[in-house]
Amino acid sequence: MRNITVFGAGYIGLVTGACLAELGHTVVVRDIQAARVAALRRGEVPIYEPGLAELMEANAGRLSFALDAREALEHAEVAFVCVDTPPTPSGDADLSRVWSVIEDLKNAPRLTAVVMKSTVPVGTGDQVRAALDAAGLDHVGYASNPEFTAEGRAIGDFMNPDRIVIGASDPTTAHLIADLHKGIAGPVETMSVASAEMVKLASNALLATKITFINEIAAVCEATGADVEEVAAAIGMDHRLGPHFLKAGLGYGGSCFPKDSRALRAMASNSGLPFQLLTTVIDVNDLQPRRAIARLKEELGGLRGRRIALLGLTFKAGTDDMREAPSAIIASRLVSEGATLTGWDPMARLRDEAPWNRLERAETVIEAVTGCDAAMIVTEWPMLKEVDWASAASAMKTPFLFDGRNLLAPPLLQKHGFTYMSVGRATVRPVTTPPPK
Ligand code: UDX
Repeated sequence: MRNITVFGAGYIGLVTGACLAELGHTVVVRDIQAARVAALRRGEVPIYEPGLAELMEANAGRLSFALDAREALEHAEVAFVCVDTPPTPSGDADLSRVWSVIEDLKNAPRLTAVVMKSTVPVGTGDQVRAALDAAGLDHVGYASNPEFTAEGRAIGDFMNPDRIVIGASDPTTAHLIADLHKGIAGPVETMSVASAEMVKLASNALLATKITFINEIAAVCEATGADVEEVAAAIGMDHRLGPHFLKAGLGYGGSCFPKDSRALRAMASNSGLPFQLLTTVIDVNDLQPRRAIARLKEELGGLRGRRIALLGLTFKAGTDDMREAPSAIIASRLVSEGATLTGWDPMARLRDEAPWNRLERAETVIEAVTGCDAAMIVTEWPMLKEVDWASAASAMKTPFLFDGRNLLAPPLLQKHGFTYMSVGRATVRPVTTPPPK
């Protein structure tokens, strides 16, 4: 078992730290935000991730938190870099936080390896290697060990991964990092540092492409009368294609896909390569929520003065994360079109800024839809399936639902008197009984 220091008490840092502690290592998580470190020391977990708080509590004896880098590195044999790499105006990743960690490593007397978990451009490993050598740390190994954890399932993804990717500068380091993962059931793929860096970006870009592909098919289904749910189910049965990431909707959001696909495109452009496929994926994804609003506008005959309920606001269900959530574009477009907004979400943390300061937040779905001209399912929260849609229909000014995630069954909504639009499926309208003669 090793002494490990994890840099960054964000989403990836905390999940990595807690899981490494669970495997038996002694872990110090270091962050530069004093308030965050103080909260963690009090046992408060600053992010929502199912099972994380419990895992941290269960391993409290092997998991500590530090603000001071020197103190954090006193016993460190391995340092994990889990800081964020936000985009710069040029679309390149901002690596300033990574470089500041590398600078801190000069204070690590027992360090044998540095592991990069932050998503970085291909070639960063070479630069870090050079910086370590220049700082007299040429005895310290370097590895790229990208994470593939999805929010809401992060602990399971870490402990039971499809693969553990290790791109190491030398075989001893590769072996050391593989050894740290002992206890995890998952194949280890070792490769060059540059390849490991690329695996992360390419995986996310291909998943984003798959989602965009089915969204494009959905648009063609709408125009031609096919049903994208039936189509996707049958496509997914081909084992070469697989059933995952074929859910048509309002486009991908979150902390990874939008950022990483733009970073990969920027990286390619910097080498003079246009990467047209990825450029199209990004453009089509930006279009997806706008297209939904255009369909809604046409169906309602205009949006000015309409009262519209947004059901679900987070970028996906099972998280409180609002990063790059399609709901922000949807809300913003609706406000620009002159609509008034209500909204329901069980977890979203909304900032007091546009467009959220223009939305009346409701405690329940029924409260959100009351008096509305239309409601729109933006996030696939499972509890939306449990809503009493008959009551919702009578509470609304007009029973109109746009299901942006194809969460509900068209016949059910039709039965309750709704006009029901969804993505890549025919719009159903209430069955009207002819007036008595
Ligand atoms: C993703 C990757 O799955 C993970 O491997 C990587 O490390 C980080 O990025 P995450 O962003 O947490 O994880 O969510 P994920 O469940 O992959 O969904 C991403 C986005 O795509 C969401 O907005 C989701 O709604 C959307 N999506 C996903 C679809 O629209 N259709 C699908 O079929 C799947």
